[in-house]
Amino acid sequence: MTENMVVPTHVGFIMDGNGRWAKQKGKPRNFGHQKGAENVEKVVSACFSNGIKYVSLYAFSTENWGRPESEVKKIMDLLYKFLIKYTKTLIKNEIKFMVSGDKGGLSNELRELIVKTEEITKNYSKTLNIAINYGGKQEIVNAVNRIIALGETQVNEETISNHLYTSELPDIDLVIRTSGEQRLSNFFIWQCAYSEFYFTPVLWPDFDEGCLQDAISWYSKRNRRFGKL
Ligand code: FPP
Repeated sequence: MTENMVVPTHVGFIMDGNGRWAKQKGKPRNFGHQKGAENVEKVVSACFSNGIKYVSLYAFSTENWGRPESEVKKIMDLLYKFLIKYTKTLIKNEIKFMVSGDKGGLSNELRELIVKTEEITKNYSKTLNIAINYGGKQEIVNAVNRIIALGETQVNEETISNHLYTSELPDIDLVIRTSGEQRLSNFFIWQCAYSEFYFTPVLWPDFDEGCLQDAISWYSKRNRRFGKL
C-alpha cells in the first residue's frame, strides 16, 4: 500500500456475481459459489495485511432461503467447510470470528461449529464478521424488542447500537459490492449510515488483492464529512 493512504477501519463486502461468473464459464451456479468461497480466504487475508481491522461479509441473507434447496445446501456446506479449514488461520493470525444473524435457523452442525469458533477466537481484536441468515431491518427490530424486554419504554441511537449483532464493532467505513449491482440489499443498514459505497463490475470470484487496493485508494480520496462542512 502506498504511504499516506487512508485505510478504512471496517470494510463490508457484498459478494455478488457468483452465479453470473459460473454462467459465463458454462458451469452450474454452485460452481460459482465454490469459487466465491475459495476467494473469501484470499480477500480476507489481503484485508488484514493491508491494515483493515474489521471485515464484514454478506454470505447469506434471510431472503436467500427462497433460492433452490440445492443452492441453499451448497452455500451452507461451503460455510461449514470454510470454517473447518479457516480456524487454524484465525488462531495463527489472531482474528476474532463472529456471525451476525439468526443462528437458530441454521443446522445444529453449522451452529455448533460457529459457536465453538466464536468462543475460541473471542479474545482477539481483528475481526471477521460473517452475516449468515441475516437481515438488516430484522436486526433493528430484534434490537428494539430486546430493549423493550428489558423494561425500557424509549430507545435512542446508543441503546439500539448496543443491541445489534455488531455492538462491539465500529460502523462500516467502506462497503464494496461486486458485480455491478448498486444497492444495499438489507446489508447492515444501521451500520452503513455514513459508509462510502464502492461498486465494481468485477464478479466476486475474480475480485483480488489488486481490486481491493483500487477500492482502498478510491476510499482514501473521499472526503468524509459525516453531515458536517
Ligand atoms: C451472491 O452471488 C452470492 C451469494 C448470495 C452467496 C455468497 C456465498 C459465498 C461467496 C460462499 C460462501 C461464503 C463464505 C464466507 C465461505 P449470486 O449467487 O447472487 O450471483 P448472481 O447475482 O450472479 O446470480
